[in-house]
Amino acid sequence: MKEQMQGLRESSVKAILACQSIEELEALRVKYLGKKGELTAILKQMGKLSAEERPVMGQLANQLRAEVEGALEKRKEELGREMMEKKLVDEAIDVTLPGVKQTVGHKHPMYNVLDQIKDIFIGMGFDIVDGPEVELAEYNFTKLNIEESHPSRDWTDTFYFTEDAKILLRTQTSPMQIHAMESRELPIRIIAPGRVYRKDEVDATHSPMFHQIEGMVIDKGITMADLKATLNLVVEKIYGEGTVTRFRPHHFPFTEPSCEMDIQCHKCGGKGCPTCKGEGWIEVLGAGMVHPKVLSGCGIDPDEYSGWAFGMGLERLAMGEYKISDLRLIFENDVRFLEQF
Ligand code: PHE
Repeated sequence: MKEQMQGLRESSVKAILACQSIEELEALRVKYLGKKGELTAILKQMGKLSAEERPVMGQLANQLRAEVEGALEKRKEELGREMMEKKLVDEAIDVTLPGVKQTVGHKHPMYNVLDQIKDIFIGMGFDIVDGPEVELAEYNFTKLNIEESHPSRDWTDTFYFTEDAKILLRTQTSPMQIHAMESRELPIRIIAPGRVYRKDEVDATHSPMFHQIEGMVIDKGITMADLKATLNLVVEKIYGEGTVTRFRPHHFPFTEPSCEMDIQCHKCGGKGCPTCKGEGWIEVLGAGMVHPKVLSGCGIDPDEYSGWAFGMGLERLAMGEYKISDLRLIFENDVRFLEQF
């Protein structure tokens, strides 16, 4: 037994000194001193000893335990110190090395234009509202007085999610008119910017995803004059005072009367140039007086209330303002292009 203890003393101290991590050290403690450890195994043989030998061996065993514990403790301290030193070396920062340049991005040019428009409308007391891009056909079409046979409902034009054509990606922000009328108290003054989707091939002026800004006012005594005055003001804020607009009759199922608004080309002043494709005018938006059927469908009495609405394309506006000639540049997100703005 004495020899066994001597053997354990030598092998354990050697192993502890060679140990390289706290985890390993803990494993050694279990190996030598644990309940199923080597020292316990030796002590199990105590029963075989005579009454005189037993206290002597017991004392030796206690001594051995204390030695191994002492060695473990010492190694633990050493390892802790070594680890700290290694950490200090590894994590040392050479303050003389040149730094890594952090590049700061900036807002996308189209969102600059959107922010500008938001500011203008906020200044006139409008709320900015957000709504779902995945929409019910009922809101995108039906409640907007767009009949079942209308070509814009066609599967070739609209992204549907379901065979029954009840759920779709909104093709316009106009369903936000319905959401606003159904959920807000009167009077209502909102703009609702957001993404819309149509099955268009990508080219210089088309994209299957683009952005619109919907605007709507519902109150007592609202007329077409309010629509024109508001839009003229907005255009002058964006393109400068004195910018000339023109309202042409048009047709939308959810407004009556309906119109399209053009601005006189800010580049050539109406003479005709590449920017306005020789027309002298640039089409900016569709608008009109909210159809009485749409109002009553949302529980608003058309005899008491009236309102106007407009919808405009944000990309086109940004392209005009920044003289961007190809729509794809707006979405490609090539920083070499975006950095210019
Ligand atoms: N939603 C129409 C479009 O996408 C634009 C519009 C909005 C027209 C509001 C009238 C009123 O073309």
